Amino acid sequence: MTDPTTALLFTPLTIRGVRLANRCVFSPMNIYGSKHGCPGDIHLVHLGKMAAGGFALVFTESAAVEERGLITDHDMGIWHDGQVPAHRRIVNVVQGHGSRIGIQLAHGGRKSATQRVIDGGGPLNAHDLARGAKLWQPVGPTADPVVPGWLVPHQLSVAEIQDVVRAYAEAAARANHAGYDVAEVHGAHGYLMASFLSAVSNTRDDAYGGDRAGRMRFALEVSRAVRAVWPEGKPLFFRVSAVDGAGGWDIEDTVVLAAALSEIGVDVVDCSSGGLTGTTTTAPVPRYPGFQVPFASAVKRRAGVTAMAVGLILDGPQAEKILRDGDADLIAIGREALFNPNWPLHAAQALGCDPSFSLWPERYGWWLDKRATQMALTKQSRG
Ligand SMILES: Cc1cc2nc3c(=O)[nH]c(=O)nc-3n(C[C@H](O)[C@H](O)[C@H](O)COP(=O)(O)O)c2cc1C
Repeated sequence: MTDPTTALLFTPLTIRGVRLANRCVFSPMNIYGSKHGCPGDIHLVHLGKMAAGGFALVFTESAAVEERGLITDHDMGIWHDGQVPAHRRIVNVVQGHGSRIGIQLAHGGRKSATQRVIDGGGPLNAHDLARGAKLWQPVGPTADPVVPGWLVPHQLSVAEIQDVVRAYAEAAARANHAGYDVAEVHGAHGYLMASFLSAVSNTRDDAYGGDRAGRMRFALEVSRAVRAVWPEGKPLFFRVSAVDGAGGWDIEDTVVLAAALSEIGVDVVDCSSGGLTGTTTTAPVPRYPGFQVPFASAVKRRAGVTAMAVGLILDGPQAEKILRDGDADLIAIGREALFNPNWPLHAAQALGCDPSFSLWPERYGWWLDKRATQMALTKQSRG
C-alpha cells in the first residue's frame, strides 16, 4: 500500500495560475452529441460525472475551430460566438464539482466529413448519406487523401493557412470567454495539424513543408497565436502523435517540437500516437498497458517539458508507478473512465489515500465511510 500522504497521483500540481487537485485528467473523448457544434445535455452528464468522479481536470472532446474542420456533423465546435453560452453551461457544471475544465481546439483537416469512429471512421458511404450525414470539402496540407478512397482535400494556400491560424486564436478567445481553465491544441491522430507535421502527408515545397522546421511551422504559429490570446494565468496543452506510425514523424521529432512549444509558452505536451493513415482506431503502434508512456517519458526527460501520459493506463497503482518512475507529470484516462467514471476515487482507495472517503462528494462519502465501518465490524464479529 502506498503511503497516503505521499501518493503522487493525489499530489496537487499548479500550472501557471491553475491548481489541479490531483494528477488525474479525463482525456478528450468525442461522444458525437453536439448540434451545430453546441454541446448539450449529454455533455453535462458525460463531463459532469467525470468531475464528480474526482478528475482534477476534465477535457472536452475535440472542438472544431472552423465549421469545415468538424470531423462529423455531430462534433463539438467553437467557431462562432453563438456557441459560447452552450460551452459556458458545461464549464459551470464541471467547475461546480470542484474540477477544472479544458477544451481541445481542433481541426479535422483531411479527415473531416467522415463517419463517426463508432460507424467505422472511414469515408462517408451511400448508406451514411441516405441517413442524412453531411458531406463537405475537407482541407489539408496537400491534395492527397488520407488513403486512396477517402475524400480528396483542397490544398490550403499560404493565405488560407493563415486564416486557419486566426481561427484557432479566435476560438481560444471564445473558450476563455466561456470560462475554460485550460486549452489544448490538438496536434495528433492525423487531423489537420498532425498532417502538417508528418513528412508522409506534408509534401509541400513552401515554408509550411519540406524539412522538420517547415512542417512544424503551422503547429508553432497556431500555438503562438493561441498563447497570445489565452490568458497568461491559464495553462496551454498540446496533444501530439509522438510517432505517426507511418514513418513521417518520430519521437526525435516530437522531442524537438516539445522544446519549441515550451519556448513559446506551451505548458504541457500530451503524448498520444498514430492516426495518420487511417481511422484513429487503426493501430500502427502496438498497444499494451502504458504503451505510450515512453513517449511522455522522452518529452519530460529529453525536452524537459511537463508531460501527460495516456493510453491503456488502467488503475491507480499503474498510474502511480508512471509518476514515481518520473515518466510523466499527469495521467490522462480515456476508455477506463467510460468503464468507471469514478476512476480517480477508486484509484485513491487502491492506493490507500482516502480511507474515510473524504475525496468523494460529501453526500456519498459520509455513507460510504459508515458502510465501511459497519462492514469491518461485521467481519470482526464473524471472527
Ligand atoms: C470514444 C472516444 C473518443 C475519443 N475522442 C478523442 C478526441 O476528441 N480527441 C482526442 O485527442 N482523442 C480522442 N480519443 C482518444 C482518447 O483521448 C485517448 O487518447 C485514447 O482513448 C487512449 O487512452 P485510453 O486507452 O485511456 O482510452 C477518443 C477515444 C475514444 C475511445
